[in-house]
Amino acid sequence: MSERVKEITMDIVEATRDVLRKHNVTFPEYRAGFMHLAKTQQAGEIPLLIDVFFNSTVVDIENKTRKGSRAAIQGPYFVEDAPLVDGQLAIRDEDNDQPRMVMRGKVKGTDGQPVAGAVIDVWHSTPEGRYSGIAKHGEIDKKYYRGKITTDANGNYECYSILPVPYQIPNKGPTGQLLEEYMGGHSWRPAHIHYWVHADGLRDVISQAYFEGDQYIENDSCNGGGSEFMVAEAYDGDVRVMEVNFELEPAAAKM
Ligand code: DHB
Ligand code: FE
Repeated sequence: MSERVKEITMDIVEATRDVLRKHNVTFPEYRAGFMHLAKTQQAGEIPLLIDVFFNSTVVDIENKTRKGSRAAIQGPYFVEDAPLVDGQLAIRDEDNDQPRMVMRGKVKGTDGQPVAGAVIDVWHSTPEGRYSGIAKHGEIDKKYYRGKITTDANGNYECYSILPVPYQIPNKGPTGQLLEEYMGGHSWRPAHIHYWVHADGLRDVISQAYFEGDQYIENDSCNGGGSEFMVAEAYDGDVRVMEVNFELEPAAAKM
């Protein structure tokens, strides 16, 4: 038996009862609600539904104890064993004429010291808003648009790729129906790059970067942190520059 599981479960139940009472929910409404949840379960969308509403809240809680770079939502498409890359993510032949970006920046400790040999997992969407290595996205080889970048002796990293696009979370099932049809909202996320930064002895961080000018940054179906993670529009020739620096606190500070 776990005291924590018990307490949290009882609080969830009590908070839900408060909502039912506040809105004088009727028995037919109650049935409709749980039938929608049953449909969500059948569609395999329980993780999606929970993530859409609550992942960002758990990230906010994590950020209260963090020094240095803020954490952002991870999303469902991280792949464990992405290839080590050297300066450029693999680009599919059919995407060769897509606009380019360069991800660059520095990893430091909260003591200000550059971190050599940090490993940054990056992953981002294809120009159609899919992720590689994900069965339901059509099994695009996972070598594309994801990889592990390492920092050099001065803590710097640099890696070229193509631009990701605004992404629509799966919206053909019950979760999309809830967000769009029943709640009048939408299922878009701003175009983004995901990062997971690891370094020996330091607390890892999962982050994201958004592109200035994207209409969904402050209107994100997943509440992904907004302009805090936005990178100002900058170009090197016709290559969009995404300069993102990371600051990691000592691992010992982890709770
Ligand atoms: C989802 C997809 C993402 O790429 C992301 O960053 C967050 C959420 C999703 O489909 O739920
Ligand atoms: Fe994503």
